[in-house]
Amino acid sequence: MWAFYDGEFVQEKGKHVQLENRGLTFADGLFEVVRTIKGRILFFEDHFTRMIKSAAFFNMEIPFTSQETKEFASELIRRNAIEDGELYIQLTRGTDLHREHRFPSEKTPSTFFMLALPLRRIDAENWKNGVKLLTYPDLRHKLCEHKTINLLPNVLAKNFAYSKGGYEALMFRDFEGKKVATEGGSSNYFLVKDGVFFTPEINNILPGITRGKVIDLIKKLDYQVVEKPVTVDEFLEAEEVFLVSTVSRVMPVRAIDQVCFSVCGDYTRQIMKSYEDLFFSSR
Ligand code: PDD
Repeated sequence: MWAFYDGEFVQEKGKHVQLENRGLTFADGLFEVVRTIKGRILFFEDHFTRMIKSAAFFNMEIPFTSQETKEFASELIRRNAIEDGELYIQLTRGTDLHREHRFPSEKTPSTFFMLALPLRRIDAENWKNGVKLLTYPDLRHKLCEHKTINLLPNVLAKNFAYSKGGYEALMFRDFEGKKVATEGGSSNYFLVKDGVFFTPEINNILPGITRGKVIDLIKKLDYQVVEKPVTVDEFLEAEEVFLVSTVSRVMPVRAIDQVCFSVCGDYTRQIMKSYEDLFFSSR
C-alpha cells in the first residue's frame, strides 16, 4: 500500500513516523475520514474546510491547499486501487524531540499524511435490520467540535457497545439531573417524534458532515428538523432513531439498551433513500 506522507508518495511499510511526533506523544493533531466511491472522493471540500477551520483554531499549519490535497488524494486512491474506501487524512503539530508541552517554534513543520484504505467491514444487515446502541457517559473534553485525534473516550465508548453486542454508543453528559445525549463514538444521531426530526444541537459535539447533509435533506422533504439539547429519555421515547456518519451513512437504530424501536420506520427509510441518492450522485 502507498501512503502520502509529508509531500511524497511512500510505500507504507518503508516509512516511519518519528516517535517524538506530537501526534503520538500528545495526540496533538486533527484527522478526517472521507468516503471514496468508484474512486471518487465524496464531499471532500466539506471535510477539508472542517480541517482548515480547526487547524486555524489550534494554530496548526496545513502544508497544502485544498486543490493540491485533493489531487494528491486522488493519485493515492488510484495507486492503491481503492474504489469504495476511506481516505484518512491526519495533521499533527510535527515532531518535538524534547517533548515540551508548549507549542514548538514556528519553524517546526507540521506532519501531514493520508492513507487510502479499503472500506471497513460493516454487515449489510445493519442497514436492513437496524443496530443496537448502548448508552455510555461522554467522558470527553471541551474541544469536541473539532475532529481531534484525542479519541480514547470514543474508543472506550465504542468498545463498550461492541462488548455488549451493540454497534455504537449513545454518549450522554449529566446536566441539571438529566442525561443529555451528545453523539456516538463516531456518529451523530437523529430521532423522529410526531413527524418532527430532532438532533442534538452543536454544543461541544462534532458538526458532522453527514449530519449537515441530512438536515438539508429533511428540510428539502418539507419536514421540520429541530436542533436542541435532546435527553436520553427523549431518544428512548422516540418513534424512530437513526445514526449518521461518513462510513455508516444513514443507519436505522432498532434498540437502545433494552428499549426496542420499529426496525426501520417510514421517516428513516425516506432519509436513507434521499441520502443514498445524494451519495451516489455527488462529485
Ligand atoms: N467519525 N461524531 C464523531 C465523534 C465522529 O468521529 C464522527 C465521524 C461523526 C460523524 O461525522 P461525519 O459525518 O463528518 O463523518 C460524529 C469518522 C467516520 C471516523 O472516526 O471513522
